[in-house]
Amino acid sequence: MKRILVTGGLGFIGSHTVVELQNSGFEVVIIDDLSNSKIDVLDNITAITGTKPAFFQLDLRNKQEVKNFFDNILVDGIIHFAAFKAVGESVEKPLDYYENNIGSLVYLLQEMRDRNMDNFIFSSSCTVYGQADELPITENAPIKPAESPYGNTKQIGEEIIKESCAAHNLNAIALRYFNPIGAHDSIKIGELPLGVPQNLIPYVTQTAAGIREQLSVFGDDYPTPDGTAIRDYIHVVDLAKAHIAALQRLLNKKNKTNFEFFNVGTGKGSSVLEVINSFEKVTNKKLNYKIVGRRAGDITAAYADTTIANKELNWKTEKTLDEALLSSWKWQESQK
Ligand code: WQD
Repeated sequence: MKRILVTGGLGFIGSHTVVELQNSGFEVVIIDDLSNSKIDVLDNITAITGTKPAFFQLDLRNKQEVKNFFDNILVDGIIHFAAFKAVGESVEKPLDYYENNIGSLVYLLQEMRDRNMDNFIFSSSCTVYGQADELPITENAPIKPAESPYGNTKQIGEEIIKESCAAHNLNAIALRYFNPIGAHDSIKIGELPLGVPQNLIPYVTQTAAGIREQLSVFGDDYPTPDGTAIRDYIHVVDLAKAHIAALQRLLNKKNKTNFEFFNVGTGKGSSVLEVINSFEKVTNKKLNYKIVGRRAGDITAAYADTTIANKELNWKTEKTLDEALLSSWKWQESQK
């Protein structure tokens, strides 16, 4: 049985990926520092799959702790989710973001180099494209100057991986996520935003649950059909399965170069108002929202050209926006 390390494995995307890894017959080891997740996610994963992953609470910014970990456990692959990911917070605390997101990445890659481990999957983001010149966005789209320290850590992270793979014959895939939403069908795991949600969907569900008074729609003066900004909302389970597909590609040595990257989205753009309409339809609830000014740093539109990912990963999304939003709502209701 291949053993896979999942850093940030108790987080939103990490926990869903752990479930799919176990469902696919992998042994899973989780490292998480619990800075943006809860330990009871471990039991919830176990309740879904029947197998409790090994868990280590570890700070990946501590080089010695990382070395000590690998003195005892070697793995056949690493899926690296652990990172700070709030765009706005990164502008206020850039050094915390560079220390955590870049430091932990370097320490993991050094261990892979020194101990002949291979197969690294990196959690990247469509944010590396900024506002792309052409839509849908292909992998050939130019990388634009980052709009935030968070986005910069993803761009720098990819460069570090690319150069390390070339220098040390490592094999890696970066998955450039679009907008992950939804929750596992079991409603035992889902998104757990700490504090006031920055992202649209948790704010929508908390508004519908009465936790938030009203959703603010950030701008309806964009050059889009209904004036609100467009994103590619991908169900988190479909996103998790893309990681299994990428891992199989590496383990089966199907990758064509040491470092590859793929856009992971549905290929369909949805505006904020379309999301609200879909949410109201599937939940039969009226959402209290108002239109306000644009949020600084937001782009008009982003949605993926999934041609290459579909072909090279032999993967495509299966769930719809409606299904994702309904699962988000059911998850929200389970949090009472
Ligand atoms: C989506 C749309 C907002 C909240 C960011 C990161 C990306 C990834 C996902 C980490 C936008 C609008 C939002 C609200 C609103 N993060 N909105 N009212 O900004 O596309 O992407 O999160 O990996 O890297 O950049 O996602 O959910 O914040 O916003 O109108 O209360 O919803 O303006 O158009 P975003 P989001």
